[in-house]
Amino acid sequence: MSERVFIVTGAAKGIGYACARRLIADGYKVALADIDQADGKKALDQLNAGKDKAIFIECDVSEKLEVHNLVAETLSAFGRIDGLINNAGIALKGGALDLEESDFDRVLAVNLRGAFLVSKAVAKYMVEEIEGREDRSRLTERPYSIINMSSINDTVALPDYLAYTVSKGGLLQMTRSMALELAPFGIRVNAIGPGSVKTDMLSGVAGDALEKIHSRTPLGRVALPDEIAGVASFLAGEDSSYITGQCIYVDGGRLALNYTMSPRTVIEDI
Ligand SMILES: NC(=O)c1ccc[n+]([C@@H]2O[C@H](COP(=O)([O-])OP(=O)(O)OC[C@H]3O[C@@H](n4cnc5c(N)ncnc54)[C@H](O)[C@@H]3O)[C@@H](O)[C@H]2O)c1
Repeated sequence: MSERVFIVTGAAKGIGYACARRLIADGYKVALADIDQADGKKALDQLNAGKDKAIFIECDVSEKLEVHNLVAETLSAFGRIDGLINNAGIALKGGALDLEESDFDRVLAVNLRGAFLVSKAVAKYMVEEIEGREDRSRLTERPYSIINMSSINDTVALPDYLAYTVSKGGLLQMTRSMALELAPFGIRVNAIGPGSVKTDMLSGVAGDALEKIHSRTPLGRVALPDEIAGVASFLAGEDSSYITGQCIYVDGGRLALNYTMSPRTVIEDI
């Protein structure tokens, strides 16, 4: 499996960076894509994996031309693409009464349209590669996997992050729709639904709301990015070969919980 190549979007930090690092540790080659060139280059330095293992490509996933460039540059560096983690995402505050139209559009453009554009470009490459094979019966020989970084908010809603909630709900349905469409080619499409993860996005969203998060989290703490990356590694590889169209919720038990947790059960934050 050491030749396998993945693209990870939003890989300059947080969950995306943890996924890129984990895939490299698993033996994959990884193209890290991010809109933030400075942080992306820093991430690449930190990985210290060598040019034959990891590259950084500046890319705004909401821009079609930049997405096409991302796929072309990955192919020119590594010669193949075996999988994709659509992880780039933003959260802009506002509900129906106060969210700016432009903020609604931007969140949907990055979180949903962006995932669509990158998936479309990568899936087209994969299907062309499969159709070029002489022996179509050997579909499992090069198992392809697309993973969307959704959220528990694809199912439960936030009143003050309307666009974010809508984007993740859409991403879950896109996961299912694409999984059905691409199943005949042996391309699997799944999602990961994190609860609250210790990243810059969480500090922006949560502010002093950590107590509220804990009161809704049976495990009594937020997740570390590596705990999401472990699930990405599972969905990327052979151990999940019969899973498609699913979302795995990595939420410390949050979706299973009715009411709230007593403060006494809360474990110190990690
Ligand atoms: N942190 C959480 O608690 C949490 C919970 C559930 C889901 N998620 C999801 O996980 C993903 C990663 O979140 P995170 O917490 O690591 O966020 P983060 O803000 O720490 O990192 C996001 C990365 O995406 C990049 N990015 C933003 N817009 C982009 C664009 N247009 N094109 C390319 N890259 C872009 C940023 O530059 C950044 O490096 C997001 O999709 C988010 O919705 C996060």
